[in-house]
Amino acid sequence: MTRILVLYYSSYGHVRTLAEAEAEGARTVTGAIVDIRRVPETVPAHIRKSSGFIEDDTPEAAPADMANYDAIIFGTPTRFGMMASQMKQFLDMAGGLWAQNALIGKVGAVFASTGSQHGGHEATMLSSHIPLLHFGMVIAGMPYTFAGQTTRDGIIGGAPYGAGTIAGADGALQPTETDLAGARFQGAHVARLAVALSSARSLAEVA
Ligand SMILES: Cc1cc2nc3c(=O)[nH]c(=O)nc-3n(C[C@H](O)[C@H](O)[C@H](O)COP(=O)(O)O)c2cc1C
Repeated sequence: MTRILVLYYSSYGHVRTLAEAEAEGARTVTGAIVDIRRVPETVPAHIRKSSGFIEDDTPEAAPADMANYDAIIFGTPTRFGMMASQMKQFLDMAGGLWAQNALIGKVGAVFASTGSQHGGHEATMLSSHIPLLHFGMVIAGMPYTFAGQTTRDGIIGGAPYGAGTIAGADGALQPTETDLAGARFQGAHVARLAVALSSARSLAEVA
C-alpha cells in the first residue's frame, strides 16, 4: 500500500475543511492509505480563545512521522504572504529527516487559504514548495486538468500550484464547491503519483 499524509495547520477551520477534501480525493485512489494530521499549535491558549480559533481534535503529527509516508500534502493559511509559523516550526524540527535523506523522492504538495484574493495566495503555495525541495521531495501542484480553476463564476481559490480557498477579510467565506472539488482533485492527483512512484520503486527492487 502507498501511504499518504494530509498535514495541515488551521486557526479558523478553512484549511481543515480543505484537508478533509484532499483526504477524500486521495482515498479514491486504489492502493492509497490516507491519514489526516495537524501540526502542533504554538499560540497560547488565551490568545487562541480571544481570537476565536477552532478547537481541533485531529491527532497531531510529529516531524519524524513524515518518514512513514510516500506522499505528504501540506495545508496552511497565509500569514503575511507565506506559510503559518506553526507549519514552519514543524518543518524546522525536521532537520534530522533532512540529514538522513529520509524524505527524498516522496511526493510533496501544498494547498492554502488566504483572507484576500491577492494577499499572498499563490506566493504562499510557491514559497512553501521551497522547503519541500530542500527535503528532496517531488512537487505536485493542481494541474489544469482540474478545469474548475479557470471558472469566472465567483471568487475561488486554487492555482496550478495547489488547491486553495479565499476566506474573506473577516473569515466569513467558506470553501466553495469548486474549492472543495479542487482539493479532492489534488488529493487524488498526489495519490496517483505516489502509487506510481511506489510501484516503480518496487519494480527497481525486484530488478
Ligand atoms: C497574523 C495573520 C496574518 C495574515 N496574513 C494574511 C495575508 O498576508 N494575506 C491574506 O490574504 N490573509 C492573511 N491572513 C488571513 C488568513 O490567511 C486567514 O485567516 C486564513 O486563510 C484562514 O484559514 P484558517 O481558517 O484555516 O485558519 C492573516 C491572518 C493572520 C491571523
